[in-house]
Amino acid sequence: MGTGAATRLAIEGGAPARSTFLPYAHQVISDDDVAAVAEALRSDWLTTGPRVPAFEGLLVEATGARHAVAFSSGTAALHGAAVAAGLGPGDEAITTPMSFVATANAVLYAGATPRFADITPDDLLLSPDAVAAAIGPATRAILAVDYAGQPADYDALRRVAAAAPSGELTLIADAAHSLGATRGGRPVGTLADMTVLSLHPAKIMTTGEGGAVLTDRDDLADRLRRFRNHGISTELAERRDWTYAMVELGYNYRLTDIAAALGSSQIRRLDEFLARRRALAARYLERLAGHPAVELPAVADDAEPAWHFLFARLRLDRLTADRATVFRAMRAENIGVNVHYIPIHTHPYYRARFPGLSFPVAEAQYERLLTLPLHAGMTDPDVDDVVVALDKIAEAYVDD
Ligand SMILES: Cc1ncc(COP(=O)(O)O)c(C=O)c1O
Repeated sequence: MGTGAATRLAIEGGAPARSTFLPYAHQVISDDDVAAVAEALRSDWLTTGPRVPAFEGLLVEATGARHAVAFSSGTAALHGAAVAAGLGPGDEAITTPMSFVATANAVLYAGATPRFADITPDDLLLSPDAVAAAIGPATRAILAVDYAGQPADYDALRRVAAAAPSGELTLIADAAHSLGATRGGRPVGTLADMTVLSLHPAKIMTTGEGGAVLTDRDDLADRLRRFRNHGISTELAERRDWTYAMVELGYNYRLTDIAAALGSSQIRRLDEFLARRRALAARYLERLAGHPAVELPAVADDAEPAWHFLFARLRLDRLTADRATVFRAMRAENIGVNVHYIPIHTHPYYRARFPGLSFPVAEAQYERLLTLPLHAGMTDPDVDDVVVALDKIAEAYVDD
C-alpha cells in the first residue's frame, strides 16, 4: 500500500482506482446469441413454440434434473414452485431473510405465510438449526436460497424436514444465483424437490427475463406446466382440435421462443461462464485473504459455488467509516459495489404485515455487507482494480 496523494480516495479528490465504471453484474452476449435470437424472430414462433422445449432439454442435460419447466421470470418460477408444493392459506413455508424480496413474496402469492429463520454468519445461508426451531404444525415447505451461488446445506435441511410434525415437507431451492454449482458432488437441480432458476441478465446465464423450475418428480412438473399456462391441462402442441380444459387457476407465465433461443445459445457457454466466475472468485479470495478492511465468505468443504457475486463483510470494528461511507467511496473509485440484501423482514411491507420480527444474524451481517463485482465478462485486472480500491479504503479508514 502506498501513502499520501497517490492513494487519496477519489471521493476526496484523488484519482479513481479505474477510469471506467465496473458494474457488479453484466451479461455476456456473443454474435452467436444475436444470430440465435434473430433466427427466432424470423421464424413462425415468437411466443412459446419449439424453442422452449428445446431449451428445457438443454437445462435437463446441464443439471441432471429429470424435468425443466421454463417460466417468464425467476419470480414466476418461484410462484409456480410455491403452488406446486401445495402451499395455500393456513400453510407456512420457512425461508431466509437474506434474499431478494421475490423469494418470500412467492409464498404470499400462493396465499401462504412466509416464516423466516435466521442464517449462519459466515456463508449467509439458511441455518438448518434455525429452521428446525421455526418448524411448527402449519409448516409445509422449506424455501432455501443459494446465496451468492453457494448451495444451501440441503442434506441437513432434508433431515430437519423429515422430523417435522406435519410430515414430510417439500424442499424448494431458490437457485437464482447457483446454476452450475455443486454440493457434495451433486449439481444444483438435484439437491431439492424443486429448484428455481432465474435467467435475468445479472445471473449466471440469461434469457433476458426468464426462469425455470427443475424437478425429478413427474407430478410436480405436470403441475408447473399447467400453472404457467392458465391452468390448462394440455400444451398447445398436444392439441388436435379447438378444445382444451382449464382445470385449475393458472397464469400466463410462459417463456417466449425469442428468450428460449437466447437461452439455448447461452447455455452452450455455461461451463465457460462458470470457469471464469470461479477463477475470478479464486483471485479475490487469494488477494483479499487477511485484508484489513474486509472479511471473506466461507465456502463449505463439499461446495463448489457458481459465484453469482463475491460478498465481503466490512470489518466495522476496525474501520472509522460505516458501510454507507465505504459504499460511496468505492463507487467514486468506479467500482460498482452493491448490497445484497436488505433483510426481507425489514422492508416496510413486511414490517407492516409481520411486525416485531428480528433475525439478529441477518441484521448484523447486513450492516457489514458489500457485494463486489463478479461476472463472466471480467478480467483479472478488473479484480485487481477492486483490490486497489479496497486497499485505499483500508488506508483511509482502518484505525490501527
Ligand atoms: C435470490 C433471488 N430469488 C429470486 C429472484 C427473482 O428472479 P427474477 O428477477 O428472474 O424474477 C432473484 C433475482 O433478482 C434473486 O436474486
